[in-house]
Amino acid sequence: MTELLFRGATVYAPDGPGEFDVTVSDGVITSVGPRGSGRGKAVDVSGNWLLPGGIDVHVHSRDPGFPDKEDFGTLTAAAAAGGVTTVVDMPNTVPAVDSAGALESKAALARSRSRVDFGLWALIRSSSTAEQLVELASAGAVGFKAYLGYSFSVSRKQVLHALGASDPDLEAPPDYGTLTRLAPAIAELGLPLVIHAEDPGILHAFRRPFETYEDVLEARPAEAESVAISATASVARQHDIHLHIAHVSSALGLQAAEEAIAAGTRLTLETCPQYLWRTEADFARLGTAMKMNPPVRRASDQQALRDALRREVISVVATDHAPHTDDEKAQDLEHAPPGTPGVQTLYLSCLELARHMGDPWLAARWVSEGPAALAGLSESKGRIAPGYDADLVVVDPKQSTTFNPKAMRSRQKHGALQGLKVSFAITSVYLRGVPIYANGRLSTRSTGRMVRPAGVPIA
Ligand code: NCD
Ligand code: ZN
Repeated sequence: MTELLFRGATVYAPDGPGEFDVTVSDGVITSVGPRGSGRGKAVDVSGNWLLPGGIDVHVHSRDPGFPDKEDFGTLTAAAAAGGVTTVVDMPNTVPAVDSAGALESKAALARSRSRVDFGLWALIRSSSTAEQLVELASAGAVGFKAYLGYSFSVSRKQVLHALGASDPDLEAPPDYGTLTRLAPAIAELGLPLVIHAEDPGILHAFRRPFETYEDVLEARPAEAESVAISATASVARQHDIHLHIAHVSSALGLQAAEEAIAAGTRLTLETCPQYLWRTEADFARLGTAMKMNPPVRRASDQQALRDALRREVISVVATDHAPHTDDEKAQDLEHAPPGTPGVQTLYLSCLELARHMGDPWLAARWVSEGPAALAGLSESKGRIAPGYDADLVVVDPKQSTTFNPKAMRSRQKHGALQGLKVSFAITSVYLRGVPIYANGRLSTRSTGRMVRPAGVPIA
């Protein structure tokens, strides 16, 4: 296979940015060396930046289950256009990914449509068994996700945005008991446990109809997040599990997480661009595009999250890309389903935030290096270094981009970041050395492969 030589760019190498030649053979980076040192078919990227492909560890493909909302084709078209070369999909598709069989059929579907590499999270139900987790791990799950406040429809095989009820079809959400029961198996497997951290008891106590955005904030208080974090951290610490908190949204949640880390918990934190860029004040303009769980909160929460990124307490920025149809989102605040798309704007919104913080290159850590470590991919992705997959994003730092719904490739075009202007543009994207996006056009080929965490034996 021909060697490719990326030349002329400022490259984000593991020791920091520099003027390097990058050569690629057979989809893998073979050298990162001084200008003029590389040989191969030249790809001239002069004046641009070369960054490691984004890894969005929190997306909802809706596939299989909800083709009107999204599928792996539209999800990964948006990902490719946004410089995200790997997505890790959440298990609340239908049927939910609660068994090895469900994971394998979802993987086959994703392989047929995905334009970028993909990994799959597995679901923990209150009825899950240790054997099921072992089988899910051998089938390739990146780790396990527990939705603390969401019950499960047994007949529909679906996770619901609802606290349990007396309906016999509804299985109770997984709780601290479920996690304590399954903790030894998770520890043995060595995979991360991801939590949707909102305590159902607190959500229940604060339930109310949503008329105003203030009602949303009162119904899902920050204590729901901090209590869920402290309680799951206590279980994780006891069993030495790697606990990952999805979409941290509040200063109080952060404080609980930092206390848990100080106490010795192996805990990583994720937040999302919408919590870093938006506050309650944006609701008047954005409406239900901004309705999501947990909610976008107050300016003081946003400040605390930005500060935690700066202090490297938060190591992952992911999107919680959660599209719904226009009709669903056109309902009132009470009835519109929670969730916003975001995979296409992840990288650029992080570059812009990192630029505001004085070092735009930090973005590569938040969306590539940190996520690779979480998903067990640190040996193959997340860095521009010899031996790593040639997942490369070419960014023009002299062009700006305004997030415009018309340019979105996701089926749901309206998201919480719409209208944001950033001082960068993505010009081309490579997946394992193959161009998948260039100058506004996607390549027609689907080339995505399934990624599996290192160190887990294949069944
Ligand atoms: C997600 C969805 O729609 O699947 N919605 C959301 O508001 N975040 C579910 C989730 O991740 O909690
Ligand atoms: Zn989610």
